[in-house]
Amino acid sequence: MSVNFIADLGYLIGALAFVVGLGKLSSPDTAKRGNQWAAMGMGIAILASLVYPLETTYNNFIWIFGGMLIGAIIGWIVAKRIQMTAMPQLVSLFNGFGGACAVLLGFIELFPLTTSTIAFPSGGLLIIILTIIIGAISFTGSMLAWAKLDGRVNDKNVTFGGHKYLNLFLLVVLIGLSILLLIQNNTAPSWVIYGLLALALVYGVSFVAPIGGADMPVVISLLNSLTGLSAAAAGLIYDNQIMLIGGILVGASGTILTVLMCQAMNRSLLNVIAGGFGSTGKSIAASDLGQVKEITINDTAILLYYSDSVVFIPGYGLAVAQAQKAVKELDDLLEANGVEVRYAIHPVAGRMPGHMNVLLAEADVPYPKLLDLEDANAALPNTDVVVIVGANDVVNPAAETDPGSPIYGMPVLQAWNAKHSIVLKRSMSVGYAGIQNPLFFGDKNKMLFGDAKDTMQKLISEVKSL
Ligand code: TAP
Repeated sequence: MSVNFIADLGYLIGALAFVVGLGKLSSPDTAKRGNQWAAMGMGIAILASLVYPLETTYNNFIWIFGGMLIGAIIGWIVAKRIQMTAMPQLVSLFNGFGGACAVLLGFIELFPLTTSTIAFPSGGLLIIILTIIIGAISFTGSMLAWAKLDGRVNDKNVTFGGHKYLNLFLLVVLIGLSILLLIQNNTAPSWVIYGLLALALVYGVSFVAPIGGADMPVVISLLNSLTGLSAAAAGLIYDNQIMLIGGILVGASGTILTVLMCQAMNRSLLNVIAGGFGSTGKSIAASDLGQVKEITINDTAILLYYSDSVVFIPGYGLAVAQAQKAVKELDDLLEANGVEVRYAIHPVAGRMPGHMNVLLAEADVPYPKLLDLEDANAALPNTDVVVIVGANDVVNPAAETDPGSPIYGMPVLQAWNAKHSIVLKRSMSVGYAGIQNPLFFGDKNKMLFGDAKDTMQKLISEVKSL
């Protein structure tokens, strides 16, 4: 059996495992299996790649296994330690490292051009340039996205009015340098190569800088698809099928997710990239909204227990408090008393796509109880009580009524249409978009302050005593 045959067979099995894994990721019931299939596919692909050095005279297994061991140890420790709430940051970091790998591969291939006496084929050179540019944007862009999600960088401190013109200028220079390199090929001065790399890295940061607030879900999925595309381009450089297939799968699923996120935000991609956030005007100040009304644990328990229908709206605060299992316990108690309990899921609730679905699946909430945005908004006018657990932006009516709001135009869960709404949060602090929520000040709304899990546990005890 030739080395090529073993590698190709391994790649084929690996690629099939990726596809089966992706298919299983489409439902929460099978998502864990899907991950295991994809991980198995990657394992087989790595093993298949390892047969190539056997055929060469390079004795570089120490480097290969050394790198794999260090990477595996770091990956294992990070994945073990990471908090569920920090998962989006970790995904951003992984995205960024994928892009960094593509840049390194592209640069290693491009570097010999500085001393080469013969020109590179134009097609091959174009692919190398694309690998470097896309990989660099995905690398430095993801690093800034990580810093923003982690609260280390304030959206507003890294951008300025007219930032989109700077980005346009950088893009034009980047394209100009690429054309120059393609024309001059091996006669190009080395500053063109270094300039291209440096500019692509700077452009990644500058590209993500003006995108922020509630538009972050779109940019995260866009960076995800760019990482896939850069891996696919690197696969073309090395004529490596598994890199190509894996890259295309990530690129395609990232692109589909980007489209879905744009739909969820009711924005076009161009508008997200070029529009800037919060630039449309001034949002309502908290002082203009009046006073909020509070409710006690006891009154909340009675209201919920004797309702016909209750809808929980989970948000980022549910993830922070890890209140999902407590919510499910309260759900069981209410259902035992004949209350119909459902969950309204906003597509960008939390900090990553599917965040709420993952948490509720972990708490064994049956999937049919989950209503998507449209179904939930249709059900809310006939709902007795809506309980908003650590959600804020996704229930903000300003998205429909305040043209000055940075989230104006984003579809939201119309919690104000229910007969009563109760908000579980710790204070009057704002959510991710940094704006006050007029719903909290509405006539039908009551605030139940405290950590969501703690409050849920108190409600459970209270309901049990009724
Ligand atoms: P947010 O608007 O971020 O609001 C979360 C609320 O949870 C905060 O107001 C906070 O108020 C409360 N909270 C935090 N910890 C809590 C705890 N332990 N117990 C109770 N409440 C707690 O969340 P959302 O409504 O889910 O909206 C998501 C936002 O994130 C959107 O703007 C979205 O665009 C953005 N975003 C989403 C994604 C994806 S892909 N989903 C990615 C990036 C950004 P207190 O501090 O007063 O408790």
